[in-house]
Amino acid sequence: MGLDLKFVATGAKRVFDSRPMYAQIIVTDDCNLTCRYCDEYTPGAPIIPLETLKQRIDKLDELGVLVYDFLGGETLMHPQIAELIKYTKTKRGGSNLTTIITNGFLLTGPMIRDLNEAGLDFMQVSVDSLHPTAMSEKSLKSVLPRLRLLAKEAKFTVEIQTVLNDETYNTYEEFRATVKELPFAFGFSVQHGQGGQINIKGEKFLELLEKYGVFEGVNFYGDHLKEMLKGDFSRPWKCLSGFKFLYVNSKGGVQWCAQQRDYMYPLEMMDLAQLRANNVHKHCEAGCSLGCVRMVSHTLGEPLKTFGASVKLALGMSKQTKQSKEKADRREPVAA
Ligand SMILES: C[S@@+](CC[C@H](N)C(=O)[O-])C[C@H]1O[C@@H](n2cnc3c(N)ncnc32)[C@H](O)[C@@H]1O
Ligand code: SF4
Ligand code: SF4
Repeated sequence: MGLDLKFVATGAKRVFDSRPMYAQIIVTDDCNLTCRYCDEYTPGAPIIPLETLKQRIDKLDELGVLVYDFLGGETLMHPQIAELIKYTKTKRGGSNLTTIITNGFLLTGPMIRDLNEAGLDFMQVSVDSLHPTAMSEKSLKSVLPRLRLLAKEAKFTVEIQTVLNDETYNTYEEFRATVKELPFAFGFSVQHGQGGQINIKGEKFLELLEKYGVFEGVNFYGDHLKEMLKGDFSRPWKCLSGFKFLYVNSKGGVQWCAQQRDYMYPLEMMDLAQLRANNVHKHCEAGCSLGCVRMVSHTLGEPLKTFGASVKLALGMSKQTKQSKEKADRREPVAA
């Protein structure tokens, strides 16, 4: 999977036009787990019919969406998830990007192969700890064999995401040591409380984030996050939800995001005028730690800063490559 030139060109246009870039689409509110920090699931909720979801994709594509992020509830509880990915990839000649966010519990070999075939680009597997806790069952004890299966079979990019809170902080080093052989990227979602506001605080989190390189590259809200972890929410920013970022709930309503439900607009009626009208500051910006919305908002709202961060990352990576090449050259030659 590589970034398509058409994607890059259309993505650049999104900085200046009035069309959305990124959509989160709920495929079911049902979930197989009950994480204590989460309020984004309803046990026993229905699966959204494939045809309904396809109509939502048609509309989102017509509006101009380039990145589709499927989630729930638990995304893999949808029995036709691979078909939905395949359908989404028929748009824009497949130059759009598709992501699944999942707790990974339902992953199987045949499912991974179906997702490969469907053209899935990314999978974010949420794993919090080594063993289940009262807060979260999302642990390596249940998921490690499935992660190994992914390492063996997946043709899409995989990232392991951990909800950063006091509990996961305490076990994170051991967690990373246990999964060090896995060829995946690792990241955090900073724990939020109701309304999307950050609900962890402290320098210890900063140290962990710095150590694992979260402030490099794609974390365009790094400075905000550093300040927020110290309790300072004063730095201004503009949330582009409802404009560049659309959250489509199970009923087909567009909300600001997973955490704010005061705005609700039917997706089928969404047009460019409404999108432009949504390009306003939101009352909950101070202290917001919703990574996806912030990533889209900072990338499109502050493109020069984003470009600067990408160049810094690329330079850092080429320096790293040079250093590891030098290190390899210094090693004893291996007998043929
Ligand atoms: C709502 S879940 C849906 C997908 C799937 N069930 C999963 O857990 O990956 C989407 C993401 O939100 C994260 N999440 C849920 N509650 C959170 C919270 N209070 N703070 C930060 N992230 C949270 C989950 O860990 C997951 O990565
Ligand atoms: S975080 Fe995911 S797995 Fe946990 S309860 Fe929420 S939706 Fe379910
Ligand atoms: S600032 Fe935006 S993303 Fe954050 S909680 Fe408010 S509406 Fe949601």
